Amino acid sequence: MNALYQISYISRSAIIGNHQTIDNEIANILQVAQSNNRSQDITGALLYSGGYFCQVIEGIQENIETLFESIQMDARHRAVTVLNYEPITSRQFGDWQMALAGIEEPLRFHIDGLVDDATQIKIKESAKDIVNTLYKLVMQKQQVLLQQTAR
Ligand SMILES: Cc1cc2nc3c(=O)[nH]c(=O)nc-3n(C[C@H](O)[C@H](O)[C@H](O)COP(=O)(O)O)c2cc1C
Repeated sequence: MNALYQISYISRSAIIGNHQTIDNEIANILQVAQSNNRSQDITGALLYSGGYFCQVIEGIQENIETLFESIQMDARHRAVTVLNYEPITSRQFGDWQMALAGIEEPLRFHIDGLVDDATQIKIKESAKDIVNTLYKLVMQKQQVLLQQTAR
């Protein structure tokens, strides 16, 4: 009933504009996500790469299903394609309400493997690989931040 689940998906961004517009819109998404997710005990990570979003969300099944319904209806992206949805025994992103794994980080080639043409998303990579890549990116980012504050 109160089982922990993890869902991962990719989607095509529908945000139109230059880098600044995209950065601002992603900052807005993150700000809302971090405060909502805190109240719903949801954790995860978000990546924007080459016009695609990739997101991992973890939490109590009921909470993530409600959130995922509103995410699917969000006009800032389309073609939301679930990579994996499964029960988990512990959280992989437990430290983050919604970590930003990056914007235009070099996950591009991973995402390219999933995309057939501009409108079709094909799942060729294993979802686990993608989730682990997101985790690595988040950890790398955290290391950089820690090094900067240590200086
Ligand atoms: C790529 C993407 C990821 C999002 N991730 C989250 C998230 O993790 N948590 C969240 O609350 N909203 C997230 N949102 C925003 C939701 O779609 C929605 O706008 C937000 O939950 C506010 O919903 P409300 O107006 O019903 O309160 C995301 C939106 C996009 C486009």
